[in-house]
Amino acid sequence: MAVSVSSALLAWYDRCARTLPWRGIHDPYRTWVSEAMLQQTRVDTVLSYYDRFLKRFPTLEALAGAAEADVLKYWEGLGYYSRARNLHRGAQQIMKDWGGIIPSSPDHLRKISGIGPYMAGAIASIAFSVQTPAVDGNVIRVISRLFGIREDVSRPTVRKEIERIAADLVPPDRPGDHNQAMMDLGATVCIPGTPDCACCPLSAFCNACHAGDAADLPRIPKARPPKVIPWTVLIIRTESEVLLRRREEKLLQGLWCFPMMAGHPDAEDIPASVQKEFALSSRELRDEGASRHVFTHQIWEMRLFSMSVTHQAAPAGFEWVPMDRLSSLAFPSAMNAALKVCGFDKK
Ligand code: ADE
Repeated sequence: MAVSVSSALLAWYDRCARTLPWRGIHDPYRTWVSEAMLQQTRVDTVLSYYDRFLKRFPTLEALAGAAEADVLKYWEGLGYYSRARNLHRGAQQIMKDWGGIIPSSPDHLRKISGIGPYMAGAIASIAFSVQTPAVDGNVIRVISRLFGIREDVSRPTVRKEIERIAADLVPPDRPGDHNQAMMDLGATVCIPGTPDCACCPLSAFCNACHAGDAADLPRIPKARPPKVIPWTVLIIRTESEVLLRRREEKLLQGLWCFPMMAGHPDAEDIPASVQKEFALSSRELRDEGASRHVFTHQIWEMRLFSMSVTHQAAPAGFEWVPMDRLSSLAFPSAMNAALKVCGFDKK
């Protein structure tokens, strides 16, 4: 069955493969950048970042030698910023430990910062034609339907079985195309909820298509709903500067944010809270509306207030940033509404 599945899949890929800038190239660095961007992010979104990033950091050496703040600036808006920090750290690791040459074996690739089993398999197969699988969410969905796996795919034993099947399916020639064809099939035909079995090159082999329950697979336990967190975001300005902080927390580490206070206090209580938390006496408090940002595990419900202060010492951990420097700093999308209040509209 493995040979027939792979032949049918590759024939379909030859007809229907998406034309993407990271395909048909022979540069493991570019493959790595594309895979780092594509983890958790849709192809359409990645398309607008990939070329720009590679123009700025055209080689592994260029990336390794860059400042992290610069790398984050070119990742700004793409989210999951640990991918950018890991890519940067990984490039430095390869310069130091591998003489600047990206290794080809999945085992060696996995020693590099940010490269897990999926990405090691993707880079090895796509850039080096190593016969190895690359199992992401799309591939899990395709295999669970194709082989009628009706158990919870988050269970380690089930996951192992899917990985074993995925490895069995990879042909010795064109392993990278096979893996990318699996991803394309999962992204365009064998999609969650409403698979297009009538157009699927693998329907003749597909257990779930025959059984009629493809739409119900894979079985994944319901994720816990994200936690809703209320914040008050403060746009505190002097004549020419705004108060900002470079985050050190794991979430959005290295990105710039406005001062935030937990909760949604009444507007009239805000000046006193700002005095207490930041030792700043403010005036001209203005309600600037609300904004909401959805992360994977949390939702920020933000109320925005702007205020003026005369220049005074910045509170510990904060900096006064001249307005005309805003465009050079990396901000998370969660701060877009606050940036707009400053007259800096990223969209
Ligand atoms: N998702 C992850 N890697 C991909 C690739 N190489 N092509 C298309 N979608 C992907």
